[in-house]
Amino acid sequence: MRICMIGTGYVGLVTGACLAEIGNDVWCVDVDGSKIEALRGGRIPIYEPGLDVIVGRNVEQGRLRFTTELKEALDESLFVIIAVGTPPDSCGAADLSCVFSVARAVGELMDGYKLVVAKSTVPVGTTEKIKETIREALEGRNRGDIGFDVAFCPEFLKEGSAVEDFMRPDRVICGTETERAAGLLRELFSFFTFREDRMLFMSIPSAELTKYASNAMLATRISFMNELARFCEKTGADITQIRRGMGSDSRIGSAFLYAGIGYGGSCFPKDVQALIHSGREAGTPFSILEAVEAVNRGQRSWFFDKISSHYDGDLAGRTFAVWGLSFKPNTDDIREAPALELIPRLIDGGARVRAYDPVAEENAGRALAERGIEAGGPGGRLLFCPDNYEALRGADALLLLTEWPLFRKPDFERMKNLMASPVIFDGRNQYSATLMKAFGFVYRAVGRAEAGPQP
Ligand SMILES: NC(=O)c1ccc[n+]([C@@H]2O[C@H](COP(=O)([O-])OP(=O)(O)OC[C@H]3O[C@@H](n4cnc5c(N)ncnc54)[C@H](O)[C@@H]3O)[C@@H](O)[C@H]2O)c1
Repeated sequence: MRICMIGTGYVGLVTGACLAEIGNDVWCVDVDGSKIEALRGGRIPIYEPGLDVIVGRNVEQGRLRFTTELKEALDESLFVIIAVGTPPDSCGAADLSCVFSVARAVGELMDGYKLVVAKSTVPVGTTEKIKETIREALEGRNRGDIGFDVAFCPEFLKEGSAVEDFMRPDRVICGTETERAAGLLRELFSFFTFREDRMLFMSIPSAELTKYASNAMLATRISFMNELARFCEKTGADITQIRRGMGSDSRIGSAFLYAGIGYGGSCFPKDVQALIHSGREAGTPFSILEAVEAVNRGQRSWFFDKISSHYDGDLAGRTFAVWGLSFKPNTDDIREAPALELIPRLIDGGARVRAYDPVAEENAGRALAERGIEAGGPGGRLLFCPDNYEALRGADALLLLTEWPLFRKPDFERMKNLMASPVIFDGRNQYSATLMKAFGFVYRAVGRAEAGPQP
């Protein structure tokens, strides 16, 4: 089948490559010329495990092509999949300008039947507006005779395991309003669920809301655990034991019950905000989600305060090693990453930061530079280090902010010898407090009574 994927970011590139991998012909279109040039030159602009192999193979075999020219890609395709960004605007609502600009361009350029599938996360009613936008553009050029259908298929892949998630999804949700669209989507996606039919067809508004509801539920679990963790520290309970106790209840399950330093990334924060905004607009406010969002914002401050109070509020002249810059392991995505909030606060407080991340240094460096924090040489406030041990050299404390597997079993003796003082602030509850004590570390984690009295 012939597919035009519009937007070649984390979702579009993975989706395009995986659809090509099963034999489809895919054009990936993007307005970012440097991204398309990189892809044409064999360079993958994002870090996603396994993606380079699939992209390379399908480019070589001629099933995956990249362009900035929508017209050619559109002409050759039956499916048009929209996977452009929908970032938050200044009020927290989803900024849909890229989605509607794509819809307009599709209506201005298409010359035959297309099934236009929105994959970007969009508020209820957006797919209907995409349909109106395309129709208006067609009528504007007196081509109202050209038929098309719209559908909404939310994406549930997780960065860091995106290829695997796309190839073996828990379910494929298709919001459709015509038999023709439903039939085409079944043909396009049924391969991915062929062992067991996991395709769920529903109305378009229900599919649009399912995506937000899923992310909001996961975010709620995280904020609940984070708030509980704060309470644990006041009461002597241990959040990691509670997680095991709760998670083994089959009605609850163990996923997304990890306390830490708050959720980040390109989806949870913006999707929770967008749903809150939609709820307010509809006159049915989401009071639960308002609290989820407030707890999440507060969690990073809470962690910062934990560090700061350890030094009686005086961070000036301290050196902190930071392990992990991406918002989660196995990705270079730094959108809403806790590190990007904590590093500026440490530096504002007069501290120096020595940071290490296996793949996110470049993106983090760019984002911090935009906030006026340039990574510099040994005298600078921020230094990126070539490995995690180098980051510890002369540090007053280690802040573990992203749970990369590499940080799971480090050489603690070596760490202690490198550091000026053996202190760990573990934002991801990665280590055993007993072990840390045996190695002579002062260990501060999240919601762990076993880590000793918390300030
Ligand atoms: N990243 C995730 O894990 C994830 C998971 C599920 C759903 N989503 C949703 O998928 C959508 C895309 O997310 P992403 O992370 O891939 O975003 P992204 O920022 O990585 O990629 C979006 C791409 O769209 C391109 N673009 C913007 N306007 C365009 C236009 N007019 N024509 C062609 N290309 C255009 C941008 O240049 C960019 O390359 C969002 O709505 C997001 O909420 C993301």
